[in-house]
Amino acid sequence: MAPEESTEAVRLLPSFERRFLAARALRSFPWQSLEEKLRDSSGPELLLNILQKTVKHPLCVKHPPSVKYARCFLSELIRKHEAVHTEPLDELYEALAEVLMTTEPTQCHRSYLLPSGDSVTLSESTAIISHGTTGLVTWDAALYLAEWAMQNPAAFAHRTVLELGSGAGLTGLAICKTCRPSAYIFSDCHSCVLEQLRGNILLNGLSLEADVTDPARHPEHNTCDSESPRVTVAQLDWDVVTAPQLAAFQPDVVIAADVLYCPETVLSLVRVLQRLSACLKNQQAPDAYIAFTVRNPETCQLFTSKLGIAGIPWEAVPHHDQKLFPYEEHSEMAILKLTL
Ligand SMILES: C[S@@+](CC[C@H](N)C(=O)[O-])C[C@H]1O[C@@H](n2cnc3c(N)ncnc32)[C@H](O)[C@@H]1O
Repeated sequence: MAPEESTEAVRLLPSFERRFLAARALRSFPWQSLEEKLRDSSGPELLLNILQKTVKHPLCVKHPPSVKYARCFLSELIRKHEAVHTEPLDELYEALAEVLMTTEPTQCHRSYLLPSGDSVTLSESTAIISHGTTGLVTWDAALYLAEWAMQNPAAFAHRTVLELGSGAGLTGLAICKTCRPSAYIFSDCHSCVLEQLRGNILLNGLSLEADVTDPARHPEHNTCDSESPRVTVAQLDWDVVTAPQLAAFQPDVVIAADVLYCPETVLSLVRVLQRLSACLKNQQAPDAYIAFTVRNPETCQLFTSKLGIAGIPWEAVPHHDQKLFPYEEHSEMAILKLTL
């Protein structure tokens, strides 16, 4: 490859790598650029490098994506190769044969690379909605909020974070790995979501504590100097949790991602935020950040108008420009900072 050709090819690799590890839709991959590069190059290096950064990536070998996904990806890669070269590339066919011999499990993995060089891997359901919940997969707002958190670690450092509707756990795991919170409480209402969440926390090398509300466990009583946050998972349903139960968590920061998807959840969420506004720690209510994808402007308006009625002021957090995760480019994302 000529030097300028190899520089261009090097730019393609991270794009394929990040998208494949996160199992993003195949249509979002830069196939057109790949085809152009393949036309300009004579050898198989580029495709072999893509294979190493995707299907053969150590994270994928250890925690594979869905079989169907890997099969469709390899078939597309083979199509691109064959559109340009007449000689088949054995390595691509061997990888496909290996995938075809694997049976599809009900859970698959997605991995996200962090700027620190670390990564977050999640075991997720292969279906977007299963067991009657949306919480078994990662939603784009979770990625957007994690990105913002990693660019604003001071909002979380040495603080107790309570996450509402944690789902698969991406945001919390990214915060625990990069923002140095003192304690992180993942929460959700759905038992299957909580079970998967606990598995994902352990999968990422964090230890789980039994009960964060135990007074002996609070930061003031923390005798060890561990860098790792104290991590717990709580079953917390916004419709039934009481103010004293919320106060026992002693949160400094409350966060939530993609929890405004229908009017009922908006109303439940505002009610729980109202109860949280009474949870004073050192005479201060927690900071709160709510991230969402603007799918239906009316639902977002309902949220802000209910916040107004509840007496909770809010401001939009400016969009951050550093995109680290491969979420949908064209969807509108927002984070509101609430003054509880
Ligand atoms: C669309 S998912 C978002 C999950 C995750 N935050 C993300 O962005 O990937 C919504 C989550 O909110 C949870 N949820 C919905 N209503 C709830 C309620 N009343 N109490 C607690 N959690 C709730 C669901 O179980 C689900 O995990």
